[in-house]
Amino acid sequence: MQKLIINGGRKLSGEVAVHGSKNASLPILAAAVLCNSEVTLLNCPKLSDTYAAMRIINHIGYKTGFEKNVAVINPTGECEYEVPDDLMREMRSSIIFLGAILGKCGRCKITFPGGCDIGARPIDMHLSSLRKMGVTINEEYGQLDCCCEKLKGAKISLSFPSVGATENIILAAVTAQGRTIIQNAAREPEIVDLVCFLRECGAEIEGEGTGTITIEGIDELYGCEYRIMPDRIVCATYMACAACAGGDIAIKCCRPHEVDSITPVFEQMGCFVHSVNDTIYFSAGKNLRSVDTIRTMVYPGFPTDAQAFIMAALCKAKGTSVFVENIFENRFQHVNGLQRMGADIRVEGKVAVIEGVNKLYGAKSAAPDLRGGAGLVAAALGAEGKSEISRIHYIDRGYENFEISLALLGADIHRSI
Ligand code: EPZ
Repeated sequence: MQKLIINGGRKLSGEVAVHGSKNASLPILAAAVLCNSEVTLLNCPKLSDTYAAMRIINHIGYKTGFEKNVAVINPTGECEYEVPDDLMREMRSSIIFLGAILGKCGRCKITFPGGCDIGARPIDMHLSSLRKMGVTINEEYGQLDCCCEKLKGAKISLSFPSVGATENIILAAVTAQGRTIIQNAAREPEIVDLVCFLRECGAEIEGEGTGTITIEGIDELYGCEYRIMPDRIVCATYMACAACAGGDIAIKCCRPHEVDSITPVFEQMGCFVHSVNDTIYFSAGKNLRSVDTIRTMVYPGFPTDAQAFIMAALCKAKGTSVFVENIFENRFQHVNGLQRMGADIRVEGKVAVIEGVNKLYGAKSAAPDLRGGAGLVAAALGAEGKSEISRIHYIDRGYENFEISLALLGADIHRSI
């Protein structure tokens, strides 16, 4: 079982480039299945999740290639419609293939993607929306057998602006008959990136980034070359690592405006953030201060994916900080690992209260999930002594060469096999 070994206390300096977005690349890889010719994706992150998505694409019969962050998918011809449980379970977002495979061949047989450590993560909105588009869905023993003669456009109002449900509806609607209108759609930048990719393939979509998205179904989507957006959560993770460890870093190849809801939190902590074009210059404050209550919200609010590593940065911030986790019901599992390092955190339901302490101490902990693992790494960088973080396969799901990038910034971190 691989671990990350970190000797904390070393300030970070230098520059780091942000890789392509996991949460944009996964729906775009699924969308590529809908095309009638080759798709080339630039800036595709090399993550275990993107490899898992490629395995699903290969399983349904399409060839893929992946070299130096360039992914090539050849989705010509008919595809298989069944995705086995072992592939579905590799990642939560495998559900995103449902809309794409239905759009491609009118049938899709999958198993429930299952919840993961951060919550039950039901798919009721995905399924009810697809039913409105004419899909019949038989649920039996954890299997979903979905089919439809021809997907039909529909007016769909989401009870919650679910990212995944919005993406699945878009993928089912782009080649459906007629118009689909999604009300209360998710506004995340990853949705915008998916729509930009589909438009490059010939899709007729409007309203991305707003709460109402309109899709005019067309007959065919053409392959194209597309560059995936940078990962805004990875960008914020490096800011948190510098806040924990101290020092000054430059974060390149990012989109500063996409972390506009996170930057003010670092500034309130006493850090200095300055951006020029696609680079953020970040200086950790000397003595971090507690911040006003942070409530996780849908975009453009404070993102739930940043909660764990911002909490790590607040463990040594003088005063009391409060988080309210409004998106997932079980997203404080990293608290245990932070407490092992000496953090003073109390959790009550969806509220976590952090009392800043003077020091954190190196300790053994286990990554509970993807962003929780990143939070433990950030905290360990600023802890005194040696930390060992296990179950780092979670971290590998969303961070490409994470420990190598941190070591290049001056951290004493390595992966033990
Ligand atoms: C996406 O997950 C992201 N994953 C998550 O990032 C991110 O945290 C989340 O959006 C919120 O921004 C990918 O894009 C691959 P949701 P998703 O559907 O689509 C409930 C990371 O760390 N819900 O917006 O699963 C759900 O339980 C990951 O990179 C239903 O109740 O998120 C949750 O409480 C973690 N029924 C809330 O909505 C449904 O049918 C938000 O879920 C669908 C969702």
